Amino acid sequence: MVNSTRNRLMIPGPVEVHPAVLEALSGPVEPHYGPAWVEKYSRITGLLKQVFNTQHDVFLIAGSGTSAIDACMGSSMMTGEKIIIGNNGFFGDRLVSIAKSYGLLVVEVKAPWGEALDPTAISDALKAHPDTIVVAVVHSETSTTILNPIEAIGKVVRESDALFLVDAVSSLGGVPMDVDGWGIDLCPSASQKCLGATPGLAPVSISPKAWKMIDRFEEKAHGWYTNLQVWREYAHEWGDWHPTPVTMPVSIANGLLVSLEQLLTEGIDTRMRRYKALALQLRAGLREAGMQPFTPDEAMNPVLTAAYPPDGIDSAKVVDYLLKEHHIQISSGLGALKPKIFRIGHMSPVITDNDMDTLVSALKKFK
Ligand SMILES: Cc1ncc(COP(=O)(O)O)c(C=O)c1O
Repeated sequence: MVNSTRNRLMIPGPVEVHPAVLEALSGPVEPHYGPAWVEKYSRITGLLKQVFNTQHDVFLIAGSGTSAIDACMGSSMMTGEKIIIGNNGFFGDRLVSIAKSYGLLVVEVKAPWGEALDPTAISDALKAHPDTIVVAVVHSETSTTILNPIEAIGKVVRESDALFLVDAVSSLGGVPMDVDGWGIDLCPSASQKCLGATPGLAPVSISPKAWKMIDRFEEKAHGWYTNLQVWREYAHEWGDWHPTPVTMPVSIANGLLVSLEQLLTEGIDTRMRRYKALALQLRAGLREAGMQPFTPDEAMNPVLTAAYPPDGIDSAKVVDYLLKEHHIQISSGLGALKPKIFRIGHMSPVITDNDMDTLVSALKKFK
């Protein structure tokens, strides 16, 4: 039997979505071609361009965030080519795994889990490896909540010929992003986190410099489904009736359109200020509950907070307690941090200061 108790989702994605998004999902199934869909698809990609802050191409890939990361790496590089990966967490490790699956030569620039990547170390790696094709980093390292300094890393990458790939799966829509201003060439993301929709769609932005790199091959680099050249071919040649190469999850796209319209109506800056205020409220509450935030306030992530449980307690106990006694779902850490920290996602537009109050008063009662 299905458990009818409704848990409040405060994990690092997927997120609680607005009722209007759920309503949009439940309409009749629509075709992924024809004038109505073409108009809707271009409205969605147009709104996404405002969120990415780009004038360049944006596609919506049918898949989770990883499908877009896969597409960016596999389309821009041939097996045996070199990629520098800034790695300071679980999703940095994931970038390394994807690169290795394509047979790329990986140069890792590491920082400890819980610390930000150092742009100077990336610059040194680029000098030592001038044949690098792509520099890839995670924006918001969801495993530790660390935000990497994308603008500063973009500056050093721009001094080279390499492309800059930024995994914005858990940041786009909740953390400031300036794809064109920061020189980001490939920016994969996902519908189910700060964009406030349900899982299943992966927006990606592609710069003219990235297209040049992608088009240097006589033949297509890797794959078909996740090959960006194929997505461009359909956008250009079939754009007036069938703008994508595959059947799209149109219902999910209907939900995404609503959540994007809500974001743009609220205003990206206003939304981000609201998230920051919630993060500060949570940090103050955690301290009152005797549970210290994992990062100092100066390094806080506005959409995701990690904290230490009371001394000697495994974080799973806090996670279980909140779920069983208060129907609030949060997450433990990942990797070596699994028992040491718990993570609270507040990257949903429907999470309010009341949610934070409820969560904090529950944490204060934890024994
Ligand atoms: C930073 C980051 N990158 C990649 C992923 C993988 O995304 P998906 O599960 O949508 O494929 C996640 C998921 O949590 C993430 O947080």
